[in-house]
Amino acid sequence: MDIELIHRPRRLRKGATLRKMVRETRMDKSSLVYPMFIKEGSNLKEEIPSMQGQYRYSVDRMEEKLLELCDAGVGSVMFFGIPGQKDERGTGAYAQDGIVQKAFRKAKEACPDLYLIGDVCMCEYTSHGHCGLLNGKGVENDTTLGLLAQTALSQVQAGADMVAPSDMMDGRVAAIRRMLDRHGYTDVPIMSYAVKFASSFYGPFRDAAGSAPAFGDRKSYQMDFHNRREAYKEALLDAEEGADILMIKPAMAYGDLIREVKDGTCLPIAAYSVSGEYAMVKAAANAGFVDETSIMCEMAVSAYRAGTDIYLTYFAKELAKCMEEGRIG
Ligand code: PBG
Repeated sequence: MDIELIHRPRRLRKGATLRKMVRETRMDKSSLVYPMFIKEGSNLKEEIPSMQGQYRYSVDRMEEKLLELCDAGVGSVMFFGIPGQKDERGTGAYAQDGIVQKAFRKAKEACPDLYLIGDVCMCEYTSHGHCGLLNGKGVENDTTLGLLAQTALSQVQAGADMVAPSDMMDGRVAAIRRMLDRHGYTDVPIMSYAVKFASSFYGPFRDAAGSAPAFGDRKSYQMDFHNRREAYKEALLDAEEGADILMIKPAMAYGDLIREVKDGTCLPIAAYSVSGEYAMVKAAANAGFVDETSIMCEMAVSAYRAGTDIYLTYFAKELAKCMEEGRIG
């Protein structure tokens, strides 16, 4: 049968070499960031029950993981601290000898080439689990800012190369910038969790860090996931306050907003594939319902295709391997 077809998109899908030649999304290991939990104590490597394959490390045990990441070509980590004690004011977040501060000092010494990012928030350190100070009615914005700025400064003084505020208080980027500049750290970038939603995808993280709010939820500070224009507004505000990189979080299910912020600003865009995304892939793969590696790759590529420049993921090491092998990228 003779059919005259001018356009045959299948022509460019013939053979792996050609398919790779016309690939639209390219990615590289240098864009991966691995989030890691550091816990007060010694000789700890505890598996996180809801995040199979992820661990809480004590400072004296984290080196093996850092070296493993370096070997895999993952050049950057982000630290979350789990303190020995929590209190109302989250003092462990900005203590000179706080858990992440100790981790930064140790990591700088053990792996000087690794790029170190500090998550700046209070929820892992407050007894009530909220991301800021309470005033009887709720989470108070303006008094929290000073403590966030102090937290960021203490992390940088301990060796953090970059800070990433995840609390969602208004004005925190400006407050942190001012504090860092005043202490001479004008060259330390801020990666702002600019577009962070009140999301059920963070469930396993809160198990890992013991940071679930003791009462209520985070909806008075994290964003309502029905909103798109507000995502753009948050991104613009953080850019104006001096953010160097804008993050969208979660990644999966938020690709529209990654694209929106990418097109509407001129800053590098980060996306955080969060704990619930990881846990769902693991659970479905363990049940034999999906292939773990393929799903992981497809999720990552979709985030990059949406506009991601920097991808934070618990699968960083495995993705680096897939990129190395040319399976994706
Ligand atoms: C701290 C913070 C959270 C995550 C990153 N920083 C928890 C939260 O906001 O409740 C979640 C990361 C993940 O789920 O992997 N505020």
